[in-house]
Amino acid sequence: MNEQSMAWYHPPAELPRLQVPPDAAVHIRRGRVDDVPRLYELINYYAARGDMLPRAMDHLYHRVREFHVAEAGGEVVGCAALKIIWRDLAEVISMVVHPDFQGRSLGRQLVESLVQEACSLGIANVCTLTLQPGFFSRLGFREIPKTYLHHKIWQDCDICFKKDRCDEIPMIREC
Ligand SMILES: CC(C)(COP(=O)(O)OP(=O)(O)OC[C@H]1O[C@@H](n2cnc3c(N)ncnc32)[C@H](O)[C@@H]1OP(=O)(O)O)[C@@H](O)C(=O)NCCC(=O)NCCS
Repeated sequence: MNEQSMAWYHPPAELPRLQVPPDAAVHIRRGRVDDVPRLYELINYYAARGDMLPRAMDHLYHRVREFHVAEAGGEVVGCAALKIIWRDLAEVISMVVHPDFQGRSLGRQLVESLVQEACSLGIANVCTLTLQPGFFSRLGFREIPKTYLHHKIWQDCDICFKKDRCDEIPMIREC
């Protein structure tokens, strides 16, 4: 995040209270601009606890086309995004499911939807940098040395606030 984004960055102290019951039917769809306030709340609630990287509101508007969301009863209850890194590599980022809907395979469905998109774009591999390696290994990702992701490191890691103390585990899955 740049300095201007930081000035506008206020991570929520609480998760959004959902109006929709936890057993409601869910479908996965592409992100829309009117989803952005909810994406901001979900991602930055966990980011403030160190579970994932923060995303400023302006970043989310710029990148909303990369998001797939889980929607139940008109509410966004989960999200994840696919960021293209290079010719043969895309990355799953900003993966969150609201706790009321965790354990219902929404995380799996969101990742599968992103992997399908990567495949349809002709991208051979999907990676992630995560603090939840158990979740991603259930979805067919395997741990790799971070140096395998050199394009990712040039683009993002070198300017990340975690640069010299990164605790995220690099993982990859073939399309
Ligand atoms: C991690 C997270 C996205 C999982 O979402 P979810 O919808 O509950 O996951 P699913 O129900 O799709 O689980 C898919 C599989 O992963 C397993 N799994 C889920 N979370 C796991 C975890 N933290 N560790 C190990 N395995 C996990 C499930 O048991 C399931 O296995 P199975 O299909 O073989 O039975 C969710 O817990 C979350 O949003 N956490 C807070 C934010 C976060 O940490 N995001 C990740 C940032 S890298």
